[in-house]
Amino acid sequence: MGTVLVTGCDSGIGRAFAEQYAAAGYAVVATYRDLAGRLPDRPGMRHLALDVTDAEQFAAARAALAGEPIDILVSNAGIGLDVRRLGDLDFAYVQRMLAVNTIGPLRLVESFVDNVAASRERRIVIVTSAMGAIGANLSGGHYGYRASKAGLNAIGRSLAIDLFPRGITVVMLHPGWVRTAGGSPDAPMTAAESVAAMRDVVRRLGNHQTGGFYTYAGQPMPW
Ligand SMILES: NC(=O)c1ccc[n+]([C@@H]2O[C@H](COP(=O)([O-])OP(=O)(O)OC[C@H]3O[C@@H](n4cnc5c(N)ncnc54)[C@H](OP(=O)(O)O)[C@@H]3O)[C@@H](O)[C@H]2O)c1
Repeated sequence: MGTVLVTGCDSGIGRAFAEQYAAAGYAVVATYRDLAGRLPDRPGMRHLALDVTDAEQFAAARAALAGEPIDILVSNAGIGLDVRRLGDLDFAYVQRMLAVNTIGPLRLVESFVDNVAASRERRIVIVTSAMGAIGANLSGGHYGYRASKAGLNAIGRSLAIDLFPRGITVVMLHPGWVRTAGGSPDAPMTAAESVAAMRDVVRRLGNHQTGGFYTYAGQPMPW
């Protein structure tokens, strides 16, 4: 088994990714916005501070992992739905969403692409959202979140093209509607269920699927 790095393991989907990959026998580098909320220590799991808006923390994490292969790089950290309406928008929060949800994942991949290229599996998994699908937007609003995830999808597609010659497969996954802080208590799926399904998609990925946008169940999503 190889190594998996996951961002945003403080809670929700990221935490479930770290737990499940560790249980499956992977070495896991679990990264956190706040290390105080880290998972219990277990063999094969390391904990790193990584606020995805913090260039210095990226540099430190990169130095800590220099030369180590990363088989599956999971960009999960994100902040959720902006509910303010046009006329009452919180532009500081919109900018924060772009910093965390869009630019953070790009910096993540740039920081660790050599580690992924040096691995056996060479997979990059970008947790995005159906809210980033412009063609599926029939209800408006959520300007910051929608833009942050649509931008993330654009970035993921370029990464897939640029990294294809290095044998790296990049996919964008919509995790479904999940009962987390970023989702809703009314959502139909637990983080564990969503992550089990996404891990299955990742396990079955072929490199011809690079640049694709899929649901947690592996169904193609419209852009
Ligand atoms: N739940 C859903 O229904 C749903 C649907 C579509 C897409 N998603 C996506 O799924 C991903 C995970 O969300 P979730 O549902 O698991 O919600 P969540 O429980 O709120 O998890 C988000 C994680 O990201 C972390 N985070 C926030 N800002 C960060 C930063 N600057 N640097 C590093 N980590 C940061 C959070 O840490 P703190 O808790 O310490 O802030 C938290 O651990 C997100 O990308 C989200 O957009 C979720």
